[in-house]
Amino acid sequence: MTTITFIHPDKSSQTVDAADGDSLMLAALTHGVDGIVAECGGNAVCATCHVYVDDAWAAKLDPVSDDEDALLDGTAAERLPNSRLSCQVKVQPSLAGLVVRIPDKQS
Ligand code: FES
Repeated sequence: MTTITFIHPDKSSQTVDAADGDSLMLAALTHGVDGIVAECGGNAVCATCHVYVDDAWAAKLDPVSDDEDALLDGTAAERLPNSRLSCQVKVQPSLAGLVVRIPDKQS
């Protein structure tokens, strides 16, 4: 289990113990974290699982793939340098304490 904190647009936060190997998206859905729609179920075609990774953590994640990069251009909320698709980020022990912000809209 790896501790992940999701921060909502209203600044409230939820910290969850996510299963290693799951995606951030699945961790959010499993723990009832609102704001991540994930229309495509994690197949990297919808971009409704957009999150902003806390700057301190952005460099610790695997790089953005070409497919993810293309989808990030179509997010409903503004794409920022720390934007990621949460279905493409795998939970692992090295990410313990990761903080991500949920955008104010996904579609
Ligand atoms: S859940 Fe559809 S792109 Fe992530």
